[in-house]
Amino acid sequence: MKKVFSIFLLSLSVFSLHADEGMWLPLLLKGIEGDMQAAGFKLTAEDIYSVNKSSMKDAVCLFGGGCTAELISGEGLLLTNHHCGFEQIQSHSSVGNDYLSNGFWAKNRQEELTNPGLSATFIIRMEDVTKQILAGVNANMKEADRKATISANITTVSAKTSKESYQNVMIRPFYYGNEYYLFVVETYNDVRMVGAPPQAIGNFGGDTDNWVWPRHTADFSVFRIYSDKNGKPAEYSPDNVPFKPRSFFPISLKGVEQNDFTMVFGFPGRTQEYLSSYALSNLMSIEDPIRVGVREARLAVIKNEMRQNDTVRIKYASKYAGIANGWKKWKGEMKGLKKTDALSRKNAYEAEFTKFAAQDGKSYGNILQNLKSVYENSYNDLKTAQVSYYEIFSAFESVQLSRGMEALLTSKDDVSVNKYRIGAEEFFKDYDAKVDKKVMAALIPLYLKTVPEKQRPPIFSTMEAQYKGDWNKYLDNYFATSVFTNQARLTTTLTKIDAEKIKKDPAFALMKGMMDWYISTIEMPFKVNEAKIDSLNRAYMQAQREVMTKRVFYPDANSTLRLTYGKVEGFSPDDGVKYTYFTTLTGMAAKQESEPQNLDYKMDSRLQTFQAKKDFGQYAAKDGELHTCFLASNHTTGGNSGSPVINGNGELIGINFDRCWESTMSDVNYDVTQCRNISADIRYVLFVIDKYAGAGYLLNEMKVVK
Ligand code: ARG
Ligand code: GLU
Repeated sequence: MKKVFSIFLLSLSVFSLHADEGMWLPLLLKGIEGDMQAAGFKLTAEDIYSVNKSSMKDAVCLFGGGCTAELISGEGLLLTNHHCGFEQIQSHSSVGNDYLSNGFWAKNRQEELTNPGLSATFIIRMEDVTKQILAGVNANMKEADRKATISANITTVSAKTSKESYQNVMIRPFYYGNEYYLFVVETYNDVRMVGAPPQAIGNFGGDTDNWVWPRHTADFSVFRIYSDKNGKPAEYSPDNVPFKPRSFFPISLKGVEQNDFTMVFGFPGRTQEYLSSYALSNLMSIEDPIRVGVREARLAVIKNEMRQNDTVRIKYASKYAGIANGWKKWKGEMKGLKKTDALSRKNAYEAEFTKFAAQDGKSYGNILQNLKSVYENSYNDLKTAQVSYYEIFSAFESVQLSRGMEALLTSKDDVSVNKYRIGAEEFFKDYDAKVDKKVMAALIPLYLKTVPEKQRPPIFSTMEAQYKGDWNKYLDNYFATSVFTNQARLTTTLTKIDAEKIKKDPAFALMKGMMDWYISTIEMPFKVNEAKIDSLNRAYMQAQREVMTKRVFYPDANSTLRLTYGKVEGFSPDDGVKYTYFTTLTGMAAKQESEPQNLDYKMDSRLQTFQAKKDFGQYAAKDGELHTCFLASNHTTGGNSGSPVINGNGELIGINFDRCWESTMSDVNYDVTQCRNISADIRYVLFVIDKYAGAGYLLNEMKVVK
């Protein structure tokens, strides 16, 4: 009896999908509408996604390359995260005009700042085009032929799709290429910066608190989309007008309570929930640890330099944040996967799969065997070489700059040279040779020590011999002579490119030595293995859907628009520890007090005054406090940054900006006991805009529900 019970429990945890798990395609919400309503959603699937009337999806856009934003006014005003607008805030900043430290608020539309390269993309409609895209494809085809057929079908279907001239078509694979969906999209390229709080508010807690609860960050910034006079997408022009969205979110000041329904609507980037145990093990023992190790060393050097020099601090702020973000996330992922014993869970799941597959009478059994042999025979070794190569190669800034020069050695036409010159100017704006040198001095010995000789480019051994192991001497020469470490030298070089001289440049030589080895030795076998894995994963995905009939399979995230729902709730990250679902400004002040030396906890002094007087106006919660952030069980990932967090009435209650540390594993192993997303409470956001920044005029265009 006892045994039966425990098996039952195991299969429940292995198969059943907790209501909070899943990133759903808005087109297919009809199927879960009832569940959502039972959980507290008061509207309908049609209110979220409709092709016939304006719906919630018209108020959500892809912001820049990888974030989400939501419209909050009929005049193109949008909210996203501070860290999503960070590049823009930084690029408008200088030591004399430091918007990072002081914040920025446009007092009128003329003061809004333009951002070349920044875009906002809306989904107009989506369609299942699996049949058309897979026409002519069969299971016995070679992977390359399959790809060619699909790519030809994509071209044909895209061309046939009816759309306006200013719209684009995008077709994406789902379920590892077992299904395809088409999206008609509109992209707006005139997106201006309206406001951002100082870093001490918008990034309070900095890297200390990143990926961690409790949190007190008002991680938001405000932008406005502009269109041409007809409301259509247009490049920047002073004649453009504020964009009139088909829909925007009303904002609720009613706050959130424990167990309230919440949903998050946005563009999650990438998850891999259906990986095999072999892939999971590769991630846990190769990919994550290598990345974490290299970045740890790299960050220590940059941080030290940033502390000592304000110019370096501003130049490296955005780079540092990006490197640190990945580093800490992978560390948390390793921790969470270990703690929840994710590998045993996968193994148990695979055993169940194998059992059901055998009962089914189909020969699905060897898919897993085949995956195992690809990973164990060569992929694991190739992955070690690949990940360590990329982590170190991308860390050498001057090496990166030299890459673009290669093409100029053969075609020195003015247009190409000029393009390179512009890129180089951008590069040097945020470059410091001393930092680059110190990073290389730290990483090269680490690389040689941790990566076996067979798995790294021979140029390192050549250089080591040439300089008798004295890397400082190598780097002294490198930085004294390379044109890629000094703007003046590069400018002179570009007036007349001398190919022979460039080839001897130490940065260029290192770049060539590394890349040539990678392309000749690693890239080809790596691609061959990946193609095998792709095709096995596709078969495995399909088999899981056919065999595991009790499990609901939502497609992995792929930067397309998704909806996820759950509820407001805390959790227990460790034995004896319980996280409550919200934080307050009082807690922010306490954090500063507990660690006065920690610069990440330096609270803004004016904010402190509001705190001391408890002067929160209409933004105070019932307990008289200003609630800052809250936890919920919404299944989110990178790309969901800036996403609207919405209550059962379709009103905005927060802005999603992070996950808890133990939750970052949800990309491969969602566990509702551990996985929580972190949002800034919308009352905190409006308080900062209105009372703190004095930009309350922006509220006039919003629809605030009290
Ligand atoms: N972890 C969040 C995300 O993945 C926020 C990163 C920005 N914050 C920071 N302190 N670096 O984007
Ligand atoms: N901060 C992340 C982003 O930039 C969101 C947090 C997550 O990965 O869940 O998208």
